[in-house]
Amino acid sequence: MKKRIAVLEGDGIGPEIVREGLKVLKVMETKYGHEFFLEFASFGAGAYFAHGDAFPKETKAACDRADAIIKGPVGLPVDQMSKIPQHKRPEIAAILPLRKRYDTFLNYRPVRLPKELASFSPLKPEIIGEGVDIMMIRELVGGIYFGQKVESPATKMMYSIDECKYTDEEVRRVAHAAFREARRRKALLTNVHKANVLATGRFWEFVVENVAKEYPDVEYRSILVDNAAFQLVKNPTQFNGVMLLENMQGDILTDQAGGILGSLGLMPSACMGLKKGYVEPAHGSAPDIANQNKANPYSMIGSIAFLFDECFDLKKEASEIWSAMFEVFGNGYRTVELAGKDTPKNRILSTSEFGDMVVAILTR
Ligand code: IPM
Ligand code: MN
Repeated sequence: MKKRIAVLEGDGIGPEIVREGLKVLKVMETKYGHEFFLEFASFGAGAYFAHGDAFPKETKAACDRADAIIKGPVGLPVDQMSKIPQHKRPEIAAILPLRKRYDTFLNYRPVRLPKELASFSPLKPEIIGEGVDIMMIRELVGGIYFGQKVESPATKMMYSIDECKYTDEEVRRVAHAAFREARRRKALLTNVHKANVLATGRFWEFVVENVAKEYPDVEYRSILVDNAAFQLVKNPTQFNGVMLLENMQGDILTDQAGGILGSLGLMPSACMGLKKGYVEPAHGSAPDIANQNKANPYSMIGSIAFLFDECFDLKKEASEIWSAMFEVFGNGYRTVELAGKDTPKNRILSTSEFGDMVVAILTR
């Protein structure tokens, strides 16, 4: 397969974890005879300081030309970020516009912890039980993130408004994707919402319930978001299957899921539109540990697995990458943030060592 890929390394640990992701991409390219043309472009806080724009027009053009996009995390330390005017910061001026540009409404955030790795989690092993395997699906281009905003000048803030809006079509398309995923996995779909208070919550539940009727073979449950947050900690495996969430609730609960796994470094993601998708770790740029070769690249390498699976429909490549990463952990190796008191020093892997081990497994 021949594909053009835009690579946005981002800030902080971005470049070093993207490097590991690309190592894996290149190995699979050779192994399976693909041809990937990579075009690097700048994006994020660094891009703002270099070009006055966190999502410069050259980057937009590179993304427009590409079949898919690989994106690292963005953001610099607070003292740097505070030098960027609010509306030019990467969250508002780069990430949301990227999502809107390619209408990437469908965000996959897998939460996987096999029982052998239960010790990663701050939860007791009996709570991890037979293992957590939840595909969180977050709506990514609607709701309160994209509604109208009213802000009075910072000097005389009296009130502000964030409008939360969802249309029938916006809810239906992500719900259909979530039900298809649940059907593929022969698994439960849990719909998360706040129907007891919000109009958009009631509407979300109503629309999803109607979509559910088209999937009688998929077990369907509905849960309020506050209860879901509680249940996720108390008994996460009850959600094994697919969880469907609107944009902001999905943002919050997917980070909580990272907490259950024991590290946000274990949270890859794919953001899919109808024509194009991009992949990114679900976490931030961790500027405090940047350039120290100690960030966990799992989330980025997992995002590369998603690139194969979701963007290019290359399932075999994707599943080999996932297995290789679990094999590294299964062999007792740990990335720095997952190492415990009892992890032998020679089992603690730097960012590049983790990538090298995945590569070694994929090429043996
Ligand atoms: C995420 C991030 C983004 C979000 C921010 C950086 C805009 O937290 O992808 O989860 O809130 O969606
Ligand atoms: Mn988030």
